[in-house]
Amino acid sequence: MPKILGLEGTAWNLSAAVVDEKDVIAETTATYMPTTGGIHPREAAQHHASHIAKVVKETLKICGKDIDAVAFSQGPGLGPCLRTVATAARALALSMEVPLIGVNHCIAHIEVGRWKTKACDPVTLYVSGANSQVLAYRAGRYRVFGETLDIGIGNALDKFARFAGLPHPGGPKVEELAKKATRYTPLPYTVKGMDFSFSGLTTAAQEALKSSTLQDVCHSFQETAFAMLVEVTERAVAHTGKNEVLLAGGVGANVRLREMLALMCEDRGIEFYAPEKRFMGDNGAMIAYLGLLMYKSGYRTAIEDSKANPNFRPDDAEVMWR
Ligand code: ATP
Ligand code: FE2
Repeated sequence: MPKILGLEGTAWNLSAAVVDEKDVIAETTATYMPTTGGIHPREAAQHHASHIAKVVKETLKICGKDIDAVAFSQGPGLGPCLRTVATAARALALSMEVPLIGVNHCIAHIEVGRWKTKACDPVTLYVSGANSQVLAYRAGRYRVFGETLDIGIGNALDKFARFAGLPHPGGPKVEELAKKATRYTPLPYTVKGMDFSFSGLTTAAQEALKSSTLQDVCHSFQETAFAMLVEVTERAVAHTGKNEVLLAGGVGANVRLREMLALMCEDRGIEFYAPEKRFMGDNGAMIAYLGLLMYKSGYRTAIEDSKANPNFRPDDAEVMWR
């Protein structure tokens, strides 16, 4: 049974994991914590560079060195972080004399969700710091049915939270405060076609703090932003005729978002799936697992094609394992 080593490091989380078809055999993570404000791409890359040897060593100590391929997140993500991880992956594959497999980070979120839940052919809502997309499989590719026109929902929540004086990451803090709200303050709801945008909403929420309580604005921010995401997800379901919804990405930890999605799915008589939290945010296991699917279908990345791709779109990747 093939065993694949996967490296993830698109943003603040550096993670190495080894998986086989059955399960995750080992996983080690080192998280970059910015001292102030948000992520500094170069600092995060330096963090990854100084921790990657340790993270890989720990992982291989648990599961042994008989690895069949090295998979890594080729994009999308922060350029300096991606380049650091790609360099390490290349060096590892060459020294272990095994194939290298560059994977698309967004697709890895979908595939780990299909692996770790009963979802088979879902519409996926992928919501993280930098990414917000509605995706579904059609004719050999994961197509993007809708996406953010500016910032990701996680970054929007973090930006608002930082403005309100809350510590990073802001998402969980906003969720906590929202529970104590007493009224809804209208905020701009922006869905254009199948796309959505969060930066106007973020500015308006900051403005609303002048006349509403922080709790009320947190609640209103969530209700407005999540309603936009659920609307587009529902329309993708209607359009594709699929009967499952899968939630992925760090913002997927939010209980209110899950509630709203579950309700929409219940109304339509379709299934809603969310993997356990460790497979929701960025993790090495998802990269190793997609690497495994690609490895089994014969895919290999030549060294000269292994350049980091910060704008790697999921629909740029051919899916040959389905
Ligand atoms: P990516 O590279 O995919 O964009 P990321 O670096 O943003 O990933 P994730 O772990 O996927 O990492 O997501 C982090 C984001 O999730 C942060 O913006 C954080 O505020 C948000 N988040 C975490 N928990 C919650 C929550 N309970 N409610 C809302 N947002 C949350
Ligand atoms: Fe991610």
